[in-house]
Amino acid sequence: MSAMPCAPAERGILIVGLGLIGGSLAAALKASGYRGRIVACDRDADEVARGIDMGLIDDGGTQLAPWVAESSLIVLAVPVLAMEDVLRTLAPRLDAQVVTDVGSTKGAIEAAVVRVFGHLPPRFVLGHPIAGSEKNGVAAADASLYRQHKVILTPREDTDPDALARVRALWAACGAQLLEMTPERHDQVLARTSHLPHLLAFSLVDTLARQDERLDIFRYAAGGFRDFTRIAGSDPVMWRDIFSANRDAVLGALDEFEAGVARLRRAVTEGDGDAMLAVFDRASHARQYFDTLLNQTSYQAMEQRNIRYRVSPGGAVRGQIRVPGDKSISHRSIMLGALADGVTEVHGFLEGEDSLATLQAFREMGVAIEGPHHGRVTIHGVGLHGLTAPAGPLYVGNSGTAMRLFAGLLAGQAFDTELTGDVSLNKRPMGRIADPLREMGAVIETAEGGRPPLTIRGGQALSGIRYDMPMASAQVKSCLLLAGLYAEGETRVREPAPTRDHTERMLNGFGYPVQRDGDEAWLQGGGRLAASPIDVPSDISSATFFLVAAAITPGSDLLLEHVGINPTRIGVINILQAMGADLTLQEPREVGGEPVADIRIRYAPLKGIDIPTDQVPLAIDEFPALFVAAANAEGVTRLRGAEELRVKESDRIQAMADGLTTLGVDNTVYPDGIDIVGRARADETPAAHYRGGRVDSLGDHRIAMAFAVAALRASDEIVIDDCANVATSFPGFVDLARRVGLVLDEQEVS
Ligand code: S3P
Repeated sequence: MSAMPCAPAERGILIVGLGLIGGSLAAALKASGYRGRIVACDRDADEVARGIDMGLIDDGGTQLAPWVAESSLIVLAVPVLAMEDVLRTLAPRLDAQVVTDVGSTKGAIEAAVVRVFGHLPPRFVLGHPIAGSEKNGVAAADASLYRQHKVILTPREDTDPDALARVRALWAACGAQLLEMTPERHDQVLARTSHLPHLLAFSLVDTLARQDERLDIFRYAAGGFRDFTRIAGSDPVMWRDIFSANRDAVLGALDEFEAGVARLRRAVTEGDGDAMLAVFDRASHARQYFDTLLNQTSYQAMEQRNIRYRVSPGGAVRGQIRVPGDKSISHRSIMLGALADGVTEVHGFLEGEDSLATLQAFREMGVAIEGPHHGRVTIHGVGLHGLTAPAGPLYVGNSGTAMRLFAGLLAGQAFDTELTGDVSLNKRPMGRIADPLREMGAVIETAEGGRPPLTIRGGQALSGIRYDMPMASAQVKSCLLLAGLYAEGETRVREPAPTRDHTERMLNGFGYPVQRDGDEAWLQGGGRLAASPIDVPSDISSATFFLVAAAITPGSDLLLEHVGINPTRIGVINILQAMGADLTLQEPREVGGEPVADIRIRYAPLKGIDIPTDQVPLAIDEFPALFVAAANAEGVTRLRGAEELRVKESDRIQAMADGLTTLGVDNTVYPDGIDIVGRARADETPAAHYRGGRVDSLGDHRIAMAFAVAALRASDEIVIDDCANVATSFPGFVDLARRVGLVLDEQEVS
């Protein structure tokens, strides 16, 4: 919420030119509670009389001279080309007044001031409110015209700070947002965002009108024409003045536009659908981006939402469901598809916030991407060297995978980039990729402690290295292999334990050979990727929440369809089976280079186990849910060798331990793991294994979903705070959970 604007402290305000802009300023000042006198001068006596009648101004007339002395601030709101005459009348009468204007061009007005005064007086603060309407005259004055609109001020270095502060206060009182830039920059920006569109609208309507003297054609014009040409109803004199005054910048903008039209014309002539699509797609997404700016929403705004789950105890888990696409494969499908030559079709893409942020980042680097529509994405690859510099930092949301893999592939580009993320991601370690990338010749800056944001300098020559990873991390391995695509020679990565191998499989699928021998994977730089269709299996990490739900709840019988069962991801299956779960794989098959199966799981009593350390990297994302399985087993479950859990989206060992303690489940935390004392008894029949309570997910999607599942065996409701990030990996979780039998209520809290 913005604070209520407060009225400016001026003795009196003189508005010269009482049209829509001047009249609305007077109306907004009155509405702000301004108690001083507002007077106006306008060539048209009727306008002044109307302004007085409407209560917008206290007095006024057609002559300027009588009103100057009584005012402390003067606003020039006359057409740009009338400005010089007004300034000449004003000059001999000016005393200590602050003078500002509202003209749509700044260079020409500054030049007029300099012609009249010999210099730009320090008490002149030129400005331009970016607001208006196609309506004219004081009768259309609107007190809210400037609210939440931008006003650009163009002070020079020697502008009087007191004068600047007073002009700022004038507009702040109208609810406007203030910006400052040089007059030159202002004129360039406005030529493109305002003057050019007006020129095109005037021209289009006139062209059609000339072709059809009786204007019959307009009978058939629908909404598109109306939307596009609304501004052709604007004041002709004002626009003649603007195009005359901002001639050079407008001509520059027109040249760029004509080149763009010529490109499209060529594409249409040649029937080049890809070229058309590239332009339309980029434009369509740029337009959506613009909308989010206008509505003041953004990806970043999403993390502000506060979602709370309330999950009632009890229920059984039954049915047949398909969880969304694999997150790791979805990220990589966009990355490899964008860097490939040709068009990549993706099915089953995860439409979660993380993978959508990756998709958006490639759009910002010039890649045309269609969709997603129901999991289908079409990527028009630009080749390994076809990305273009993004206009600003790339925002990758909550995703460590995106940031680390991006760092690898961006290290090899010709341009600089900056990678940023949300609050959680900005706490996560990036030294693990920055250090080996630097060894390859990359230039990367991190924030303190090796944290994001990352600044990656382009134009570096990379060379392959042999890297012994100190931790088992698929993200680090993938980052280096992607940098290796751009490196001279061979890039080799050795992993201390097997980690997910989607990058290697998918690169091979795109015709880029990655070799493996034992614990080493390597590739040769300088090749190319060929587009290849991708069928994304369901994410075993998302399926896990329902596997555990069914495993701990008597009466459960659930079929999860089309789940990816890549051998580097099936730790959760191995661990649940070792605990005694009744879990079977049905119809194992291979889809697009990845093994897939349907998984059937029925309730069976679980027992605590010592989790084999070799399973840890294979189940790294599944531990929050597995801890809930452990709480519902008989005996103690011990986990060690899992220090990596401390640097995930939250410290998952501590976050889970705290939540389990709230529910009354005993546990002991170790630096690299946890012991959980299961609450099941061999002779048990009771429904509940622990109490309910209120737990904090710390914004970690997997902690939130794990405690939702825990409610199935709680005696009371479990309330889970900070659940909005479930949308990063599992859009639709709440609906699916309800469908299989959880009693889950989702609330937005302010
Ligand atoms: C991922 C690798 C894992 C995993 C993450 C996804 C990937 O991280 O936790 O959710 O897609 O490569 P680490 O490689 O850092 O363990």
